[in-house]
Amino acid sequence: MTQATAPHGPLGEPATIHRASGPTRRAAIQRTAASVAALSASSQAQLLPTTPAPSPLTALSKTNPMSHLLTTRLIVNGQAHELHADSRTTLLDALREHLDLKGSKKGCDHGQCGACTVLVDGRRINACLSLAVMHDGQAITTIEGLSSPAASATKAPTTLHALQAAFLKHDGFQCGYCTPGQICSAAGMLAEVKQGMPSHVSSSLNTPLPLLTDEEIRERMSGNICRCSAYPNIVAAIRDVAQQPGVAS
Ligand code: FES
Ligand code: FES
Repeated sequence: MTQATAPHGPLGEPATIHRASGPTRRAAIQRTAASVAALSASSQAQLLPTTPAPSPLTALSKTNPMSHLLTTRLIVNGQAHELHADSRTTLLDALREHLDLKGSKKGCDHGQCGACTVLVDGRRINACLSLAVMHDGQAITTIEGLSSPAASATKAPTTLHALQAAFLKHDGFQCGYCTPGQICSAAGMLAEVKQGMPSHVSSSLNTPLPLLTDEEIRERMSGNICRCSAYPNIVAAIRDVAQQPGVAS
């Protein structure tokens, strides 16, 4: 160890600074930095090939620009369709833009509003969150086919589904934008109740058929937002249909 004397210590007396007699701290830091830089350069050289390889997508589109198109078979409202579309097409866009079924609405496109609700093999889903190719061969029911799928396919006049009639009777809408999703969701929900599926507010998990109280209806329909706040009338319409013989509990 060597000693050096500073001009002023903390109390005015000459301060003593102890320095290591070996390599200085500065030299050690410089050596460490140099080693890290060398290591980083060598690992980058290993990771990066000299000529970057094209991504699989780029390679495909160069050989066949249409390679992202897929064929999907959908049975929509009882009618078979063959869809040739980008594999990333959502079910909602397939229905609205490819099959011209504009009844299902695009509200948020993020699975938050329920305006796009349709039935797939009888179960309600948000069509904006699902790719069309995932439903190859499945049966899709939209608001256009809810009352009578066959009639919807032939564009013949139809009688209303019980839920559609009840929404009219109870004034269950104002602007109507959320209504197709509300009605499809309610149809799926009533089927779930009939199958004995409990909800978050069900008082018992052992009841074969949950009692469809207003609280149950609100909870089970909570995925469908109505910006016009027509909720009391929506609940009344669904309750009306649920009380019809054979529909739910
Ligand atoms: S548009 Fe699908 S949930 Fe809102
Ligand atoms: S009736 Fe307008 S958003 Fe529901």
